[in-house]
Amino acid sequence: MTHSSQDKLVPSSIPGLGVIIMAAGLGKRMKSALAKVLHPVGGRPMVMYVLDIACSLAEQGVAVVVGHQGAEVRKVVEAVGDQVAVAEQTKQLGTGHAVLQARPVFSGGSHRKPSRYVILNGDTPLLTEATVRELLAMHDAQGAAVTLLTAVLDDASGYGRVIRRRRDEWLQGAADNAVQSIVEDKDASEAERAVREINVGTYVVDGEFLFPALDTLDPRNAQGEYYLTDIVQMAVQQGRTVSALRLRDIDEGLGINSRVQLAEAEGVIRRRIRERWLEAGVTMRDPASTWIDAEVTIGRDTVLYPNVTLEGRTAIGESVVVHSGARITDCAIGDRVEILDHCILRESQVEEDCHLGPFVHLRPGVIARRKAKVGNFVEMKKTELGEGSKANHLSYLGDATIGSGVNIGAGTITCNYDGYKKFHTVVGDGVFIGSDVQLVAPVTVGQGSIIAAGATVTQDVPKDALVIARVPQVTREGWAARRRALQSGQVPPPAPEVKAATSAKTVTRAKISTRAKASTSAKRAVKKKQPAVQRSKRR
Ligand code: UD1
Ligand code: CA
Repeated sequence: MTHSSQDKLVPSSIPGLGVIIMAAGLGKRMKSALAKVLHPVGGRPMVMYVLDIACSLAEQGVAVVVGHQGAEVRKVVEAVGDQVAVAEQTKQLGTGHAVLQARPVFSGGSHRKPSRYVILNGDTPLLTEATVRELLAMHDAQGAAVTLLTAVLDDASGYGRVIRRRRDEWLQGAADNAVQSIVEDKDASEAERAVREINVGTYVVDGEFLFPALDTLDPRNAQGEYYLTDIVQMAVQQGRTVSALRLRDIDEGLGINSRVQLAEAEGVIRRRIRERWLEAGVTMRDPASTWIDAEVTIGRDTVLYPNVTLEGRTAIGESVVVHSGARITDCAIGDRVEILDHCILRESQVEEDCHLGPFVHLRPGVIARRKAKVGNFVEMKKTELGEGSKANHLSYLGDATIGSGVNIGAGTITCNYDGYKKFHTVVGDGVFIGSDVQLVAPVTVGQGSIIAAGATVTQDVPKDALVIARVPQVTREGWAARRRALQSGQVPPPAPEVKAATSAKTVTRAKISTRAKASTSAKRAVKKKQPAVQRSKRR
């Protein structure tokens, strides 16, 4: 049997078991302002991994010992639920002292008198529940006072060494109870340092034995600390059994003390996550460059191209295709959605059969309803885009409610901010918005209306209306040629005859000269609260 996350587990707690997690340490070697146990691995604070194990095993509660940056650590672990209690270690006097701080948690009500404790380091995120269950089974079978998890490493430096009665024996499979003591790296003699079997920092300890033993710890050692590991020697001296389980997958024993080890753990967690989703029916064109956080879920037959990043609590549906360079954080993506290259999506919801990208930016609060299309260089924020609606090119849509079957023309902008406040834009079902339109919020465009290209819409539009709001076009034939001639000192060709307007789109000099007339009609239009152009177009 191997230890891996794929092992089938019986998801039940273990009667009489209490769990203590040590998470108060400074983490000096991380050289960080952030508490070590809060550094993310696979997108989750590393302490959460052992906390998951603790919560699924403990029948008698979980105590997390916090200290360094205690308030921040407390916030993260208390959010897990009622079974988690926090104990404070105000001074970090060592792992033995840390565990001692958890005593009050288990001496309250009668329901919290564990017959044995599992003790976990907060900095071993690769440990699996299957291994801890195996450790417990060994402890119970052997009636041990202390059972510890060990690993044999090529480079054991930094870890506590497991000292056995006859050092050469255990490698040939001699009895495990030959463990005599654990010697910390800084206290080890030359010979002890050569030992490659290390203490992982995962223990099962008898309920009657633990706290009395901790009361007698002596901090006279290289670090002046109360070492939890000294209880091993105490148990041996009392003639009690000490058992040890050796890890076959040494990755599980990785304790994170430095950024190098953090990066190593990240690599292992990422590989495990990818394997889980590959097994579950997800295709990855290049698994090594596919980045999936621990809490992401992905439906079957979804295809992930190289360099895709799925973060936070993102949930991806079935048969979704995500192309290269997309980064999706805390989003819900429906079935059969296609996401083209280089989209950035955050805290948004994309319903089934939508089509996004390339280069789409969804900021928090977007809902794209079924079959909506969002294309090249479109940014959206707090906006609902209705079923089958399209915003295909170069737009900003913010604080807007857009109905179904709407076409948002290229370059359309919701002007949602006046420098002080944000305002809302409403676009009804079936509206057609031409290219380069500004919708100055607050504004409502009634259903079925058409907004002609280039309009700046400042007033509400009733349903089924046409809005044209742009400067009439001026065309002066031959003007450019005459200017060129003048610039180069030549005699300019004669100005052409002034022609009357030939189409609704063209306004010639003739029209411009009748400016006075136009401005009176504009004034009349203002009185009737209707734009002049709108009126003149109707004639
Ligand atoms: C510890 C073990 C060592 C083992 C290694 C495995 C001891 C004395 N040594 O050493 O045998 O090989 O883990 O990774 O236990 N902590 C507290 N309060 C404290 C000190 C530490 O809560 O006063 C917590 C830390 O936050 C961390 C854990 O205990 O989660 C381990 O502490 P750390 O300083 O990393 O111990 P190591 O020196 O690695
Ligand atoms: Ca450590």
